[in-house]
Amino acid sequence: MASAPASLDPAAALLAAATAWDAEADDTLVCLAVRQETHDVKTFVLAAPEPRRYAYAPGQFLTFAFEIGGETVHRCYTISSAPTRPYAVSITVKRVPGGPVSNWLHDTLKAGDTVRALGPMGEFTCFAHPAQKYLLLSGGSGVTPMMAMARTFHDLGQGRDVAFVHSARTPADIVFRGELETMARLDPAFRLHAVCEGDAPDETWTGPKGRLSLAILRETVPDFLEREVFVCGPAPYMAAVRTMLSEAGFDMARHHEESFDFGALPEADRAAAAEAEQALEAEAQDPQAPPAPAVRTFRVEFAKTRRVLDCPEDSTVLDAARKAGIRLPSSCAKGLCGTCKSKVTSGTVAMTHAGGIRQREIDAGMALLCCSKPTSDLVVER
Ligand SMILES: Cc1cc2nc3c(=O)[nH]c(=O)nc-3n(C[C@H](O)[C@H](O)[C@H](O)COP(=O)(O)OP(=O)(O)OC[C@H]3O[C@@H](n4cnc5c(N)ncnc54)[C@H](O)[C@@H]3O)c2cc1C
Ligand code: FES
Repeated sequence: MASAPASLDPAAALLAAATAWDAEADDTLVCLAVRQETHDVKTFVLAAPEPRRYAYAPGQFLTFAFEIGGETVHRCYTISSAPTRPYAVSITVKRVPGGPVSNWLHDTLKAGDTVRALGPMGEFTCFAHPAQKYLLLSGGSGVTPMMAMARTFHDLGQGRDVAFVHSARTPADIVFRGELETMARLDPAFRLHAVCEGDAPDETWTGPKGRLSLAILRETVPDFLEREVFVCGPAPYMAAVRTMLSEAGFDMARHHEESFDFGALPEADRAAAAEAEQALEAEAQDPQAPPAPAVRTFRVEFAKTRRVLDCPEDSTVLDAARKAGIRLPSSCAKGLCGTCKSKVTSGTVAMTHAGGIRQREIDAGMALLCCSKPTSDLVVER
């Protein structure tokens, strides 16, 4: 039987017409499908209204601007799909008790709805650290960047040696379980190990039980010292992995981690920050030290909340707000994620961002407050 001309099939037409997603110009994504992964995790399949191809590195994320209750709220979500399937992007979201955005997504976002997104961005990707052998370690919803990497290697069929160790509360909480087990069954170069803290109501866990430990790691992936390691999960999980790897004599230059909570800095960074603060204080008290140059201060007014603060010219607006006890939305604090994006309705700032804002947004008077220092008095729409 003769096959129908490709141009008549909507899927074939989409593939033929798709042009590259342009992060500067494109920002609208339509929700195509919602998939229930576990009892508290859903995947949202998204694509632009016009056919687009998405190029990104597995592990990268998008920053979304959601309209919730009359407010624009920004949140980052890792792309859980693989760039080897470039015609749609998926995000996989865990419902966080009391969390405004994850609950809104679970309860409200449905096929046909639109959202706005910036990106892809982020540096947490296996593409930046080529290796023959990988160890992917994830806890809870930290599975998403690992899934993007695992799916990519699986699709490419290069036989890359990947060991994936995922920690979950119970077997019912293992996200992507069916797909991961299928990949492990089909691909001898891909090995899956799940570690569960306890049993599910209808399944007794027979695999490694408890939290991930050095003993479990040694038993499941005996050659872990030879692997490039990627880690994502809750802060205590990532801290435990760092300790485990250091104790085992792992070369930490081959350890890469991503936090879903940029606010939770690693212990080493916190210690370095405290040390720098102490050094600055000691310098300030040194009678021999030359007098510090006078620092100008600007007035910053938050129009909606009617709060006002003084911001030194060498401080970011976000830091000055924190010191004044004003809570502003923020996540990465380094100009990357876009969470702190705000409209500056009057005044000027010096901004050094890392990709979290588009040129046309800057032209429209938007700024990232985490990396913007005032160069005049400001009025901010917050
Ligand atoms: C780079 C990056 C990538 C991310 N990728 C994903 C992803 O792929 N999937 C995903 O579900 N989330 C991801 N997140 C987290 C996401 O941005 C939101 O923080 C999360 O959905 C909670 O938002 P909320 O508004 O519901 O709750 P919030 O008010 O933001 O958070 C409520 C509380 O829950 C904690 N919390 C936040 N996220 C989690 C979580 N996933 N598990 C347990 N506790 C949490 C917060 O620290 C806070 O104390 C990512 C974050 C970053 C920075
Ligand atoms: S907090 Fe991430 S860009 Fe400002």
